[in-house]
Amino acid sequence: MNRYAKKVRLQDEAKQFILPSVREDVFPWTPPDQEAVVFEPFNFPALFGNTNPVEIEIGFGTGRFIVEYAQHNPMLNLLGVEITKKMVHHVANKIHAAKAFNARLMHGDGLLVLKNRVPSCSVEKVHVYFPDPWPKKRHIKRRVVSLDFLNETYRVVKTGGAFHLFTDHKDYFDFAMANIRKFGKFVDQEPVLDYIPSSYELKWKKAGRSIYRAVLSKEKP
Ligand SMILES: C[S@@+](CC[C@H](N)C(=O)[O-])C[C@H]1O[C@@H](n2cnc3c(N)ncnc32)[C@H](O)[C@@H]1O
Repeated sequence: MNRYAKKVRLQDEAKQFILPSVREDVFPWTPPDQEAVVFEPFNFPALFGNTNPVEIEIGFGTGRFIVEYAQHNPMLNLLGVEITKKMVHHVANKIHAAKAFNARLMHGDGLLVLKNRVPSCSVEKVHVYFPDPWPKKRHIKRRVVSLDFLNETYRVVKTGGAFHLFTDHKDYFDFAMANIRKFGKFVDQEPVLDYIPSSYELKWKKAGRSIYRAVLSKEKP
């Protein structure tokens, strides 16, 4: 799906906002002739140079949310994970232009990065906005909000932390809510009304579509 047709040139000054990733952050298998990678989990205080709370966005696309959110919340640290490399470069340029020094990006698969890199109880929130809907039955296994993903999200957020999922896709929402119920550990919260809309949210609202929102928290067990 090539929804962002423009060529992107990553500016030298923007490279500092991208964390190094390896093949295994993007693809879930190791070639048979290679040894499995031993992952270095993130040390967030070292990575951001402070102990401010960390939030993660998975699948940031053109980066409207993560860049504006980082600018509006200088006392937060933001990590964005995106599987399309071009978008990582595009958004790193935006972060540099916006001087959003509290944001970092990584090229990778959301589930693999959570699983292999993010320590338990280390983040305040995980944001997933308008994930690819994969409407065909045979592609449903590609949907990001799987039971595995919920398990990892729950593991990485602190007690009192949250998971936000917004989508315009009713079938995806029903699928995700069924997984959330099956997983059973998150608690429903009232959707926040004061938030920064992602570019897909603006696009679909303009087109008159309904938006479905899950705002969930991790309570004390
Ligand atoms: C429909 S776009 C939404 C972009 C943005 N969140 C928004 O609301 O404007 C979905 C984004 O998720 C990314 N994506 C899809 N699967 C992913 C995965 N497994 N891990 C990380 N990003 C993923 C896609 O490359 C794309 O940029």
